[in-house]
Amino acid sequence: MKLIVNGEQHELDIEQDAPLLWVIREELGLTGTKYGCGLAQCGACTVLVDGMAVRSCVTPVSSVDGASITTIEAVEQDEVGARVVEAWVRHQVPQCGYCQSGQVMAATALFKQNMNPDETDVQVAMTNYCRCGTYNAISEAIASIKEA
Ligand code: FES
Ligand code: FES
Repeated sequence: MKLIVNGEQHELDIEQDAPLLWVIREELGLTGTKYGCGLAQCGACTVLVDGMAVRSCVTPVSSVDGASITTIEAVEQDEVGARVVEAWVRHQVPQCGYCQSGQVMAATALFKQNMNPDETDVQVAMTNYCRCGTYNAISEAIASIKEA
């Protein structure tokens, strides 16, 4: 199986139904992407697959064979991702930080599709949970990107 992760190509001999999250963390050692619920609920495991936000805990690796995957480790190589990270830092969004790589990936996918999303677009895209309740700071960071 061929995976392209953060611009690097990997040939992997793994089970077809292995979750993408496991492959990213255990096979490739990219531990910035987090495991939360394992049920496609919390969004901690969000990565980009061809620019779209995907919950990697429920994504069989076989379904992304040949696709371009971006994790938090390389998000700043993307012009939009770099703007999102900069806004997250400026607004000091993270508290414990556990959910934040997923939040940043979800926001990056949102802005890659539309640099001026309306409230509905934001609500649809930003469904990741944050146990620390950083939602207000996330909203401020997102608003600042729209205005930038
Ligand atoms: S760990 Fe994937 S959505 Fe929660
Ligand atoms: S910053 Fe702690 S869970 Fe979101």
